[in-house]
Amino acid sequence: MAADDVLLEIQDLRTHFLLDDGVVCAVDGVDLRVRKGETLAIVGESGCGKSVMARSILRLVDPPGHIEGGRITLHREGGPVELVGADRRLLRQVRWRDIAMVFQEPMASLSLVHTIGSQIVEAVRLHENVGKAAARKRAIEMLDRVGIPMPQRRVDAYPFELSGGMRQRAMIAMALSCRPSLLIADEPTTALDVTTQAQILELLRDLQADFGMAIMLITHDLGVAAQVADSMAVMYLGRVVEYGAAEQVLAAPRHPYTRALLRSMPRLGRASRTRLTAIKGMVPPPYARPDGCPFHPRCDSVVAGKCDVVLPRRVPMADREVSCLLYEEEA
Ligand SMILES: Nc1ncnc2c1ncn2[C@@H]1O[C@H](COP(=O)(O)OP(=O)(O)O)[C@@H](O)[C@H]1O
Ligand SMILES: [Mg+2]
Repeated sequence: MAADDVLLEIQDLRTHFLLDDGVVCAVDGVDLRVRKGETLAIVGESGCGKSVMARSILRLVDPPGHIEGGRITLHREGGPVELVGADRRLLRQVRWRDIAMVFQEPMASLSLVHTIGSQIVEAVRLHENVGKAAARKRAIEMLDRVGIPMPQRRVDAYPFELSGGMRQRAMIAMALSCRPSLLIADEPTTALDVTTQAQILELLRDLQADFGMAIMLITHDLGVAAQVADSMAVMYLGRVVEYGAAEQVLAAPRHPYTRALLRSMPRLGRASRTRLTAIKGMVPPPYARPDGCPFHPRCDSVVAGKCDVVLPRRVPMADREVSCLLYEEEA
């Protein structure tokens, strides 16, 4: 991948929670890149550190969580900036303007006591030198663009006056109102019914084509990832275990965890009548991190005396990176 293609580069990111009972290594050495204009899907079961990783990028992790180490470099116009250790001023600039975020539950990020329009106007005016009237016009345009009917009226609605799907559209309108180069969407469709989910995904795809932004799409649903992703990173217990072009990872998964995830998915990669197999065991509790490869207690291909001892490193292959001891000799 050409270096000037990269928009965001994450290197050895570690985000930990210091609790009374011990340290939870929610993100434990993540390496990733987001290229300009692409959709990178982050997939993995619940509890694997996807949200904490995403929130670390915008430094939205609250104590007792903190970034223990690593680098997050944003390559923006005018040169790269380092987000780990960035001061408040730089972070304020980067949030919304360069990187915007939408969450599963829009009510968590929309204010309940302000109209949709006034929140978009405020976001726009914080970052751009435009008057109120122009910002309001932009808000109406954005609401229109995300498919909210009667945007001239809805601009003065409060979030609770909208349906779940409309609220998520309003949240996306707000996120994109400053034309960020990266949109981080954390389970943006998980709370929605299947039809609305499909509409929101299509909307994201359209907006991406229009605005040329990159999207980091976090989802526990491989089907969602398969619909929209260019690249895919599979996370397990705070680490990326497989990372590559989505089509190739889905067509020929190499990490045993990716394979197990795919087998547990309806529709993907199977004849419709074959039984779904659940991944054996559960994601272990955060304190009980296994030695060696974190996935070894659940792995079909585990090699005793090896996988329970050695932490796999990232093995670069022709079309992807895999962290699994099965492939270390190949490299
Ligand atoms: N505020 C918090 N305090 C303590 N532990 C947390 C907190 N937030 C997340 N974690 C832990 O970090 C790990 C990763 O969580 P998360 O990123 O939310 O997973 P995912 O988004 O993949 O479902 C989990 O083990 C979770 O229990
Ligand atoms: Mg999450």
